[in-house]
Amino acid sequence: MGAKKPALKWGKWFMNSSLHKIAVLGTGYVGLTTGTCLAHLGHQVVCVDNDLKKLEMLDSGILPIFENGLPELVRELKLTGRLTFTSNMMEAISAAEFVFLCLPTPQGHDGFADLSAITSVVKQISGKLLPNTIVVNKSTVPVNSAFLVRDLLNDSRVHVVSNPEFLREGSAVNDFLNPDRIVIGSENQIAGERVAGLYLGIRSPVVVTDPVSAESIKYMANAFLALKISFVNQAASFCDAVGADVLEVMRGLSFDPRIGGTFLTPGPGWGGSCFPKDTEALVAMAKSVDRPMSLVEEAIVANQNHINAVAKLIRSEAKATGVSNPRIALLGLSFKAETDDTRCSPAIDIIKNLQSEFENLIVFDPLAITPIELEINRAKTQEEAMKGADVTAILTEWSAFKRLEPSSVRSLMRGNVIIDTRYLLESEQFSRHNLHVVQIGRK
Ligand code: UGA
Repeated sequence: MGAKKPALKWGKWFMNSSLHKIAVLGTGYVGLTTGTCLAHLGHQVVCVDNDLKKLEMLDSGILPIFENGLPELVRELKLTGRLTFTSNMMEAISAAEFVFLCLPTPQGHDGFADLSAITSVVKQISGKLLPNTIVVNKSTVPVNSAFLVRDLLNDSRVHVVSNPEFLREGSAVNDFLNPDRIVIGSENQIAGERVAGLYLGIRSPVVVTDPVSAESIKYMANAFLALKISFVNQAASFCDAVGADVLEVMRGLSFDPRIGGTFLTPGPGWGGSCFPKDTEALVAMAKSVDRPMSLVEEAIVANQNHINAVAKLIRSEAKATGVSNPRIALLGLSFKAETDDTRCSPAIDIIKNLQSEFENLIVFDPLAITPIELEINRAKTQEEAMKGADVTAILTEWSAFKRLEPSSVRSLMRGNVIIDTRYLLESEQFSRHNLHVVQIGRK
């Protein structure tokens, strides 16, 4: 990705007369970020959710999710009156020029995305929208969903436009206000232009296309990135076997603009609420049209194999200590840094794998809470987790872990092995303190 442009400033938007009334349905990561950022751009936004507890929190300026910069923006925009929250969907949509669908599309039993939240809401709003309202599919939906929504609405005066999000958890606000591109898929040119107009002032390429292509762009982008990381993780394993240094190898690749310099960091495997769900959905969709995307299928398998291999590495290092009940400190629970999200986190998968063989595990994460299904001792600090540990494994790339001090780690740990799955530590500095940093694919 190129250098980020500075966020938009208010003044610009006061000069723009095309400010609109928008209803955003759903206040998850996507809905909350979308609604707040659209209000930041000057629009009048009402965010709708049926979770009253969540709405209560939002009304008092507390966010149900952790997202950098978002709480400040929500509080600021609530004060201006341009951002409001309600459970009254019918009232919210009755005055809206644009209705953004930001509803959950979890993975269904068959791998396909489960569209029940969308279909239920669209049926409720059908026939209740103002003429010329544009319904915008924002959250990730299967190809043809714009047509499905259009058919469910069954209202020729209303248009449906696909406008997929490309927001990363942890940098969602910045990604919204400084996007790499804005994708708009519309059957109707004027409707597409009206959606593009909502983003006026944001400098970014705008890809205007048909709805099916827009929906496909989202899936292909996530699948390609997941595939890239699976490739990098396999490359790390290869480097391990031949004695190459994976970070040097990736640096060597990064200068080739055809490859690109980002998303080349090996790790414990990819996870989160998007890549796993979206790759599975793409695989299911591709099979259903008899055009299997075998590369994506393989990326999913390779990812699980890699997660298992990381767990196996920690197991063998723990066994190699010779301690009968080794204490293993695990640093990180979330699927990546700057988020408290543990959905499909490789860290959780690895911990569960270790639990089948070891009892003395302790975990620390600065933000993520332990998911209900995981029973594990929790340390309040990283120091507490490492105290007396025979082996430490870093599973999430939190910046605090980057700053681990070799001398203090030495005095805390009983053993001397740190498995750094995120390539945060300078192994030479640690080896001076008789600490062995293990990084897959590095000497
Ligand atoms: C991803 C996409 O990056 C967004 O563009 C997209 O909008 C979003 O999904 C979505 O569909 O809503 P996100 O799930 O927040 O965003 O996470 P990423 O930052 O993409 O990371 C995904 C996984 O890849 C994480 O487990 C991360 O640790 C891993 N990763 C990423 C690596 O192992 N190495 C890398 O170099 C980059």
